[in-house]
Amino acid sequence: MRIGIYGGTFNPIHNTHIEIAEAAQTQFNLDIVYFLVAGAPPHKDIAETISDINRLEMVSIAIKDYPNFRIDDRELYRSGKSYSYITMTELKAEHPDDELFFIMGSDSLVTFKHWVKPDVISKCASILVAPRIGDKLEEITVTIDQYKSLFNGDFLLIDYAANAIASSVIRQDLRLYETVKKSIPKKVLDYIVEHNLYSPYSYTYDDVLKLSDEMKKELKPGRYIHTLGVANTAYALALKWNYPAFTAMVAGMLHDCAKCISDEKRISICQENNISITDIEYKYPHLLHGKVGAYYCKSKYDVFDDQIAHAITVHTTGCPGMNLLDKIIFVADYIEPGRDKQPRLDILRTTAYNDLDKCVYMILEDTVEYLTRNPDMVDPTTIDTYNYYVSYMKEER
Ligand SMILES: [Fe+2]
Ligand SMILES: [Fe+2]
Repeated sequence: MRIGIYGGTFNPIHNTHIEIAEAAQTQFNLDIVYFLVAGAPPHKDIAETISDINRLEMVSIAIKDYPNFRIDDRELYRSGKSYSYITMTELKAEHPDDELFFIMGSDSLVTFKHWVKPDVISKCASILVAPRIGDKLEEITVTIDQYKSLFNGDFLLIDYAANAIASSVIRQDLRLYETVKKSIPKKVLDYIVEHNLYSPYSYTYDDVLKLSDEMKKELKPGRYIHTLGVANTAYALALKWNYPAFTAMVAGMLHDCAKCISDEKRISICQENNISITDIEYKYPHLLHGKVGAYYCKSKYDVFDDQIAHAITVHTTGCPGMNLLDKIIFVADYIEPGRDKQPRLDILRTTAYNDLDKCVYMILEDTVEYLTRNPDMVDPTTIDTYNYYVSYMKEER
């Protein structure tokens, strides 16, 4: 077999990566191309930092429809420094009778001779070079000729005219959305939005601890203990479902921040800030603590992430088509360790880590069942959410 190995951080993977792999596959008759997801280099900018698992999942989504593209995640799981020569040596040992082709961009070619043991890499595989836009073809050819004699290996040019997009541009421009839309596979873009990646807002454990101090002052003791439970459960669920964990923890920490103020104050804050109040919310103003909490995030606690505000807004009723953070907070609020009155908590707590949508559905089921015994307390949004998840569980999965 002829096997391509395409190494990169893929932060994020975009159409050029796919096109280069396809071009190499066609030109060099490759049977399989492995996307070798590299460990992230030391972080320069925390806003650009996303978890290795997120990068891996995006590659997996992007190549799903390409039968000859595979993932190799060994470098993410290797302890210590992960060098390409180690991976190539391993791959050569695993495929003694196959021909290996190492795919790289022309930007990497320039630094290749300074890598650790480049001679080992070129002994294990032919090097296929994809020209990046802006890199002069003649210069690449000169470098290729030099390397051929320097390393006594095969260095070949992929016949592909790269477009201008680079992952670094996508990370910067992502918020402008339209400009990068065409550069990333649609499903990868959906994943980025759902998982709140490359957000201009990111949080640390210090941020969480500061908010915890504020909540301790703001909330009654029992409510504060509940809040700690929700924040910690949100953290654990975020790790499980690959959402930025401290963002989820901040949302958990603030979700009930408007719980310990008077009904009059909740109503007046809504009225003064054009926040709509439904009939049921007028009747039971405690229901407004989600909407007011979301308002407080930005106005009082300097937390500007829209997904956090949204999750807090909908945390009591849910909403049809909840996003990932909405579901994490909705579930964490219900199953945090301090809860002990709800039915089937054991099964809900397990389900939260196995099937988050199913857990959301089960909580709604129990909530609606409880509310039918107290019909005048029913917020119609809860019923809408329940109906949405009934059909979602039946049809859309
Ligand atoms: Fe609440
Ligand atoms: Fe709560």
